[in-house]
Formats: sequence, structure tokens, C-alpha cells
Amino acid sequence: MTSGDLFAQTTTDALRAAELRADLERHGYAYYVLDAPTVPDAEYDRLFRELQAIEVAHPELRTPDSPTQRVGGKPLPGFSPVSHRVPMLSIRTETDTEATGAIAFDARVRRELGLDATAATEYAAELKFDGLAINLRYEAGILVQAATRGDGETGEDVTQNVRTVRCIPLRLRGAFPAVLEVRGEIYMARPDFERYNARQRERDLPTLVNPRNGAAGSIRQLDPAIAARRPLSFFAYGLGETVGWELPATHGGVLDAVASFGLPVCEHRAVVSDAEGLIAFHERIRALRDSLPFDIDGVVYKVNSLVLQQQLGFVTREPRWAVAHKYPAEEMLTTVEAIEVQVGRTGAITPVARLAPVFVGGVTVTNATLHNEAEVRRKDVRIGDTVIVRRAGDVIPEIVGVVLEKRRPASTDFLLPSVCPVCGSTIERPEDEAIARCTGGLFCPAQRKQALLHFASRRAMDIEGLGEKLVDQLVDAAIVKTPADLYKLGLLALANLERKAEKSAANLLAAIEKSRVTTLARFIFALGIRNVGEATAKDLARHFGSIDALMTANLDQLQQVPDVGPVVAASIVRFFAEAHNVEVVEQLRAAGVHWVEGIAHSAASSPIAGKTFVLTGTLPTLTRDAAKDMIEALGGKVAGSVSKKTDYVVAGAEAGSKLEKAQSLGLVILDESQFRELLES
Ligand code: IVH
Repeated sequence: MTSGDLFAQTTTDALRAAELRADLERHGYAYYVLDAPTVPDAEYDRLFRELQAIEVAHPELRTPDSPTQRVGGKPLPGFSPVSHRVPMLSIRTETDTEATGAIAFDARVRRELGLDATAATEYAAELKFDGLAINLRYEAGILVQAATRGDGETGEDVTQNVRTVRCIPLRLRGAFPAVLEVRGEIYMARPDFERYNARQRERDLPTLVNPRNGAAGSIRQLDPAIAARRPLSFFAYGLGETVGWELPATHGGVLDAVASFGLPVCEHRAVVSDAEGLIAFHERIRALRDSLPFDIDGVVYKVNSLVLQQQLGFVTREPRWAVAHKYPAEEMLTTVEAIEVQVGRTGAITPVARLAPVFVGGVTVTNATLHNEAEVRRKDVRIGDTVIVRRAGDVIPEIVGVVLEKRRPASTDFLLPSVCPVCGSTIERPEDEAIARCTGGLFCPAQRKQALLHFASRRAMDIEGLGEKLVDQLVDAAIVKTPADLYKLGLLALANLERKAEKSAANLLAAIEKSRVTTLARFIFALGIRNVGEATAKDLARHFGSIDALMTANLDQLQQVPDVGPVVAASIVRFFAEAHNVEVVEQLRAAGVHWVEGIAHSAASSPIAGKTFVLTGTLPTLTRDAAKDMIEALGGKVAGSVSKKTDYVVAGAEAGSKLEKAQSLGLVILDESQFRELLES
């Protein structure tokens, strides 16, 4: 090749490289900023590799805005300091309820600006992203520097790491100014965080504790190759220094312009008026919060007019024109004081972390379930550890992970006890199961308590007023050992219990009395046979028709029931093979517990098969649910409203318009005792 040829070749390569950079930049913008891909991934990769090859052959063609520069360069010995040309301020934070925070801010702004109550105030409302603040400096449209906030005056140069953030343009588009500093938050989206951790777990590599730490930690990596592997994103929310730009009149206008330069700006922002507008925004975002693909810790309100912002100025290091209005934190740090185990109704042993009390997600949390031993190992939670506790929405608090840097040598491993801490029986864990169990059965007070609570629960025997505290007392005082003992309770026994007012004792006895009449399905469910839930109990009741038939059924007979397989069948056989379980059933029957199917054996021959009932008002002893179950057990239907097609209206106290309508239509109206007579006829 002559030197002329060489020159021509280099020129072609230079042109091709420029073309590739422009194409890759365009596709990257569509993919990472607009979320609307323009080419398949494979095509992007092909163009990328072609550009890489040219740059390897001609290093002089490499430019700082080349997409190949996003993969990270050599590790740094340390970060160099950067003085911010415009200080990076922080922002005043309010954590009050939605109304007071917004009203106080609006009132302050009005006072400072000398506005009266009738003048409108305009605000830009946006999200408070939970990540790491960053200043991006573009000169002639090229990203030349990225710096952390630091102390607000001096930050750290993290340009290499920030270049790896795909949605941050290395080159601006549109009519950008000569110098533009954009401020915003680097964050890790939740789906990216989950995907990253899943991949790390697959490879047995360390996982990130939460998206926030993921973002902050990645940007502070001295090895840019590590940052490049972490999926980070960015939202712009403000400006630093600008040169050669006539600023728009409002903050909203600034963000629109910033978006037009190709930078990501979050779509969840609004220009609103007065305190009411702020309150509405705060509420709207709170409802949206859990469904956003990234974490926020609140919203930010800013006076929209830049002139007014200037007029308001700063106090110490905070602008008077902006305020952050936080939601209660969903994640907090606390320490694990102990790991204890709880014994469930079927003996299941659940490790529970006892935590130093911490206010998270709007409530004080002192416990978090760890589900089972394997979960404790997987999360590597030890007693004494500092952990991140998360409680989002109404979800039960959970331990997200351990802060390993804070682990002290004194932290100790959790050991699954070999005997039940409540009754001393052996704890067993079948080879193929994740759950260890106390073998004490109903001998174990913990299991007995849970069994009683289950027996009394609404979908079972529906005994209102028999709650956890009372069951604890009844079992601890050895007054109640089995569900049958409940029917022997008298006022005296209850009155002797601490803090049991006579009125509520009487109410409880009435509720127990009411529960004597039930349905076979509820009764079977109430027994608490392992693997027999409400639906299975209904199937069993329908199939066998009587408790005696169920108690004597063998494995084959049980598996005739739809949805009953070998596991459920074995549980049932095992349950009735225990003499004490059969005894409880007998005692309950002796105590007068009975069910309507016992009265009319099959639904077909029942007096109410196919008849439609409407229930209205409060019946003296039956709950609405129990009456409905009885009707359905005997083949009747329950409708919500009265019509000519209604066969019977069962009316109790304070029956209203339904009773009137039934009277005007001349329907049969029954009180509870007439209703019972009909069922038993
Ligand atoms: S404005 C002069 N807007 O919150 C006002 N900050 O103390 C400067 N943050 O760590 C901040 N989302 O990174 C502003 N939409 C938003 C924000 C936001 C998150 C962070 C910021 C800084 C802290 C402010």
C-alpha cells in the first residue's frame, strides 16, 4: 500500500467510525431513553463490534463520546477532586402527613414572596429518586466530566464510571448550549436489580443489598469494568453551570429542554397550583409508588418560576424554593437481637428474627419471619448482625439482607433447636421437606393454642371473641386443652381470668353457644387436619355426608374424592388414627355440636333443595355466614335481593327494606326458630 492508499483507507475508516458512532448513539437513545428500540439487539452488537475493530486498528480515531468508551477503562488509583462551579445544594425535607408538609411549604413561599392568600402559586412537582446525586458536564455537547456531590463544594470525578450508564448521552442532541451542567440521580431500576442479583446467585457471586446501595456502590468503584457490569439508569432534575443559554422561564421548561437534549427526564412530573395541587400530587404518587420500576423516597416540590426561585434564594445550604416531602422509609437498618422459633398449628417451626425496634413503612417493626432454616442460611443472617428491613405497603416485614461490612466477630449463627422450645418434644425435619416440625402434636401448648384459634376462626366454627390473648390464658391456666373443653366453659371460669369483663365473657359464651350448630364442611375444616383446607373440607363433606363415614374411610376411598391425592388422603388417615383426635370429635358431638346435614341426609331429599332464600337483619344466634352455609349444605340458594322468585325471607332484628318488599310481595317470612324448624322438617 502506498502512503496515499493508506491515507485513503484511514479516511474511509474515519468516516465509517463517525457513521457507526452516530447510528449506535441513535439506537442507544431509542433503547435506553425512549424505551422504544429501533434495531434488534444482535444488529446493535454487530455495529458495536465493527466500531470497536476500527478503533483497535486506529486508536487515534477513538473519541471520548464513542459508545465503545462505555465499557470502562483501566482501574483508577483513586478519584480526583472536582470543585463544583455552582455548589450542589441539598434540600429541606419534611416527613409530615401529606397535608401539613405541603401547606407549610406553600405558606412559607407566599410569606417570603409577599403574596396574599388569593394569588395563585405555581409549582413543579416531581419524584424524589433514591440513588446517588451526580453532576454531568457537557462542553460543546460532549460529556467531559461527571462528579459526585461530595460536600456540595467539592465532589469526586467519576467520569469513567458514569460513561458506563447507557442512558446518559455521551453526546447531546438538539440545540444544546456551549456548556451545560445537568444534575440528577443515578439509580438502579428494580427489575435490573433483581436480574443482576439472580445472575450473581446463579454464579455463587455476592449480591447487592438493595438498588440504592447498588447504584451508589457502583459509581464509587475504582474499577470501571465493575461499574460497567451493573445496570444503572439516570434521571435529570436540575442544572449546574450553563454558558450560552437563555434559560427557559420555568423549572418545567428547563426539564423539557433537558429532555430535548437527549437526557432522561422522568415522566411522572407535573406543574400544579397552590397547596391543594401539591397534596393531590403527593397522594397520586404514593398510590403509584409500589408499582414504579424504581425506588423513590418521596416527592419534591419546586417553585416553578426561575425568577421567583432567585428572589427566594437560599438559607444555609438549602434553597427556600424547594422542599422534599418524604414518605415513610420502606427500608431501614436495624440489628438482629435474637433468632427464635415459633411453633405453628401443625407443628411447623418458623425461625423469627427479633429486631431492635425500628420505624419502617409507617409502623414500628420488632419481628421479621425468616420462613425456614434454608432461608436463614441463604440470607446468612446471624444474631448480632445489622440487617436491612423492608416493609412496603401492607406487606409483612422482611429481612432484605445483611450489611456484611457491619458484621461483628461476635455475631453468632442460628442453630435450629433439636427439641421444641415450648413442649420439649423432638423436632424432626423429613429429608424432602424444607419445614422442620415439633412432634408434640396437641400435647404441645403452642400447637394447641394455634389449633384452638383455627377451630374458632371465622371460616371454621366462627366463634367471635376468642382471640389470641384469651386462648393464651385459657391454655396456660390449663382450663382448655381441646376444642371440646370450650363447650364446658362457664362464666365463672372466664370471670376468673384476668381482665375479662363480665359483659365480654357473656358475649363469648353466647358465641360458643351459637357455634354448636354448624355444617359438616366447617366442622371438618375446624379440626385442622394437615393439608385439609376449606375447599377440601367442602369436598369431603359433600362426598361422605357424615363424620363417621369420613373417620372410617381408607386411603382408596378417600382418593375417590375429587382433588384428594395420596398426600391429603394419608394426612386424613393419620389424623383419625390418633385416638385423641377421635376422642375430641366424640366429645364435641357429646357437647351438642351438630350440623344440618345430619338432619336431612342428602341434599336431594331435603325440604329446601332448589329453594331461594334471602337473609336480612340480625338473627338471634346464627351469623349470616352460618345460616348461608346451612342453606347451601341442604341444596338451597341464597340471593342478595328480594324478588318474586324468592321462596323464603329469613328476617332478624333491624331488617329493613328487604323485609318491607317481602311483605308487599306476600312472600313467606321466617324468624330464626321457624327457619330452624324448616331445616329440620
Ligand atoms: S433538587 C437545590 N430534585 O435529594 C435542589 N433533588 O438533598 C437540589 N434528589 O441527594 C436538589 N430526587 O440527589 C432534587 N427530583 C429531585 C430529586 C433530588 C432526588 C436527591 C438529590 C440529593 C437530595 C437533595
